[in-house]
Amino acid sequence: MSIDDTIQTLFLELHQNPELSNQEFETTKRIRSYLEKAGIRILELGAKTGVIAEVGQGSPVLAIRADIDALPIDEQAECDYRSKNNQAMHACGHDVHTSILMGAAYLLKAQEQDLQGTVRFLFQPAEENFNGALELIDVGALNGVDAIFGLHNNPALTINQMTSCAGPFSANVDRIEITVTGVGAHAARPEAGVDPIVIGAQIVTAIQTIVSRSISGLDAAVVSITKFLAGNTWNVIPETVEMEGTVRTLTPQVREQVKTTLKTIVENIAAGMGGKGELRWFDGPPSVINVASWVELAKKVAQQVGYEVIDVEPSLGGEDFAHYLHHVPGAFLNLGSQSDYALHHPKFKIDRDMIMPAANYWFELAKAALTTLHSSLNSNPKNSPENSSEKNH
Ligand code: NI
Repeated sequence: MSIDDTIQTLFLELHQNPELSNQEFETTKRIRSYLEKAGIRILELGAKTGVIAEVGQGSPVLAIRADIDALPIDEQAECDYRSKNNQAMHACGHDVHTSILMGAAYLLKAQEQDLQGTVRFLFQPAEENFNGALELIDVGALNGVDAIFGLHNNPALTINQMTSCAGPFSANVDRIEITVTGVGAHAARPEAGVDPIVIGAQIVTAIQTIVSRSISGLDAAVVSITKFLAGNTWNVIPETVEMEGTVRTLTPQVREQVKTTLKTIVENIAAGMGGKGELRWFDGPPSVINVASWVELAKKVAQQVGYEVIDVEPSLGGEDFAHYLHHVPGAFLNLGSQSDYALHHPKFKIDRDMIMPAANYWFELAKAALTTLHSSLNSNPKNSPENSSEKNH
């Protein structure tokens, strides 16, 4: 079977048998068996799900990552390869990312003797709940790695379009919870209590000024309250209000600034009105910060293999690939998948013709990146493999 046919088959199998984050057991077996069929070396690092594999030998080491998990969505796409599980769907195209990386692994395996180093393939679990990258880093997936690439499909682009940008490419994705505690009372006698709903409403309104009044107009941020729960009947002022929401920012500085301002607003508005406000902040994945030189290489190779390179603004979505970039330099990029429906939509359906060209792109980019790394290792002896694996930790 040609590589093209093999990875199209893999895509169909993955799409029909999606598994949720951290439960990718069959997916893991399937990926392993495809790698074994091609004689590609699997690294046994002890990850519960996900697979790490390599072709080539020695230093430098380039890593490429694909995510493998699906979402809890009942698929409604019109196609003859719909998910067999109505509780799960590959609605973000991670099945495509996996198939593309497998294709690249097969192509690189066929030229293993000529590679100027090693290419490591990270088939990463649990991107959707943002902890898979940390799991793979914990088991040592980045040890010795000099640079890393990853991609996400973009349904708004046609299948011959590629995009990336230097610096922030996705957002810091943080979750917030706010509790306002007042004093419950009879609704006819509000003066006997402290109404947390009125306090909560003031807080929600004041939060809207963080983006407009507290950060520079040139910086991007979103603060959204998405849940507001209080009370259970018409004639009782409740004791508490529970809120939930998200903060999206692009840089560590703005992230910290929003966090501080939010805390001040929540605590002081509540205190000023006789209640108590508490902010709980849960760090999500940081923003993907692409390294300019690797973005340049990714764009150059994309053009060479026939992609149209599109300039974009960073998105305020999240991507746990960011964790890898805290340890090693690299770039994250988008390739067009041309779907009529957005990511995470039950009718999301990619154009399968994107798979083989994308595999070929990874193949060419991997070779170009190894050449770049090889010459920088030789011109800078300080940047020895020992040093580069130390800097991973
Ligand atoms: Ni995704």
